[in-house]
Amino acid sequence: MCGIFAITSNRRNDIGKILVECAEKLTYRGYDTVGVATVSQDRIHLRKDKGKFDEVAVKLRLNEMRGSKGIAQLRWATFGAPSKLNAQPHLDCDEDLCAAHNGNIVNFLPLREQYTKEGHTVRSMNDGEICVHAVEKYYDQLGDMVEAIRKGCGDLKGDYAFAAMHKDDNKVYAVKMGSSLFVGIGEGETCVSSDLPSILPVTRQILNIHDGELVILSPEKVEIRRISDGHPIERNPYTSDADIRVAQKGGYPHFMLKEIHEQVSTTRTLFSAIREPYITQFIDALIDAKRVFFVACGSSYHATVVGSYYFNDLANIAAIPVIGGQFNSLYGDSVGNGDVVICVSQSGETKDVIDVVHLCKKKNVKILSIVNVLGSTLTHLSDLYLPMGSGFEISVPATKTYTSQVTLFAFLATLAGQKSEAIKPKAADALINDLQTRLPALIEETISTTTLKARTLAPYLSKFSHFYVLGHGLTHGVALEGALKIKEVCYIVADGMYSSEFKHGPLSIVENGYPIIFTIAPDDAEHIVNHLAEVECRGARIIATGDDHPLLRRYVREEDFLVVPKSSQYLSPILQVIPLQLIAYHLATYKNIDPDYPRNISKTLTVR
Ligand code: BG6
Repeated sequence: MCGIFAITSNRRNDIGKILVECAEKLTYRGYDTVGVATVSQDRIHLRKDKGKFDEVAVKLRLNEMRGSKGIAQLRWATFGAPSKLNAQPHLDCDEDLCAAHNGNIVNFLPLREQYTKEGHTVRSMNDGEICVHAVEKYYDQLGDMVEAIRKGCGDLKGDYAFAAMHKDDNKVYAVKMGSSLFVGIGEGETCVSSDLPSILPVTRQILNIHDGELVILSPEKVEIRRISDGHPIERNPYTSDADIRVAQKGGYPHFMLKEIHEQVSTTRTLFSAIREPYITQFIDALIDAKRVFFVACGSSYHATVVGSYYFNDLANIAAIPVIGGQFNSLYGDSVGNGDVVICVSQSGETKDVIDVVHLCKKKNVKILSIVNVLGSTLTHLSDLYLPMGSGFEISVPATKTYTSQVTLFAFLATLAGQKSEAIKPKAADALINDLQTRLPALIEETISTTTLKARTLAPYLSKFSHFYVLGHGLTHGVALEGALKIKEVCYIVADGMYSSEFKHGPLSIVENGYPIIFTIAPDDAEHIVNHLAEVECRGARIIATGDDHPLLRRYVREEDFLVVPKSSQYLSPILQVIPLQLIAYHLATYKNIDPDYPRNISKTLTVR
């Protein structure tokens, strides 16, 4: 996935400054290459290079770029290695046009050949360059940017958004075709971006753009056109109340640590974000469903694994967790009328999930979603969605959004169980009260009681290039998520696994002093004693998160036991991811890895 930001203004001629201020907030979208193009003295000035935004911005003095309009692009490489040549934005053949995209042009190789045959000079191996040549081809024929863009989009296949500009006008043009795009309407300037936080330094007046739409930005107005027929579309902007401080570190050394601590408040804001009648509609759809599937990727998928145990235990509903990229080949033929798919995506843009939505809509399957970013593609495509209210999550590794998802699943499963009488009203009320009132304080206590041990384990764990994280029942998804955090930010192969499965092969890895991390829900200690014993007797060093329990004390040394405050069988799994997040965070910083922007990965993958 990549990030684009573009602006046109009639009150600035040092446009590089605002471009840098805004585009820097998109760093999590891609840090393989960075580029900025501005128009000044009737020509396009382009500076771009390999590297992370803050490094390239200083090296190329991006904030000194002159002009009244410009485009910035932050790239996460898919087609074309991370290099200066493949960096975006790209110029057209005679350098009077430029464009930058986010997403994938899947037919870019045949188009590259075709345009080259037609006389274009295609300089790079990056699919984003094809966008500018597609526009150039029709601009040379029609002499009108809007019509040229509309026709150019007809050549392009895939999911993308791009911004383009011509040196001879004061406009910026942008297209939304499957990737996220937001418009900001300021005083004497307008802008467009892949994500909303980067617009806030300019304005809070936001215009939602939908797939299939083209926007024409002038300093004093924004026009929306339908790409298919050029038809103008009227839409009112709204005022965003998003907190720009979210995009600042607030005194923490990294966004990841800030967002781990924010879990205290975001598990509270979750309950003010979801509203009736949507909650009831969501529950009723699950109760009435023939089959229920969860569809998600990465940390969101791990949250659904925990969620599937909540729905089983609390509501007798089999909610089958399926990895986004797997669903269409595994269930695409059998899914049908009466089934419900719950898509879970903090960004609302993950392509592997959006692909499932497109298939399911053709088969009349109800799409429910749980999304953090409002206005994202998934919110437009769903029959019904519940917002997570976590605020923007900047750090690439998900933390607060995962925890909000798991908390929401526990809440929804309890409501469904209460409605279908799978659980007693008293038990349901007690659990809902725990989730809505006790959980934030328990999270705060967990952070304060496990941080030191998590940090102290870093030197020992840093000696290993691989180890395992084992869970059981409700903590199976917790183990998967804890392992992913360590993989993502420590570059260690931490494998998350069901603890009963470990003896069927992986046990062979254990030797004296080998680390095995267990995450155990209170009622499951007895079920995993033999799993603890089988690794301990072979010399493993057991690290555990869980409630204080004499059985665990038998196998886990004090310094290795990250005890979470006493809560309940259903709250404990929510708390237990926190020590695992802290182990990953402190191990990363111990290894001098920036946990906010780990190499090779990206916050939102809008490619399949
Ligand atoms: C990956 C991110 O690209 O996408 C993960 O690195 C994230 O952190 C996963 O969990 C799914 O993202 P989303 O936005 O669909 O929840």
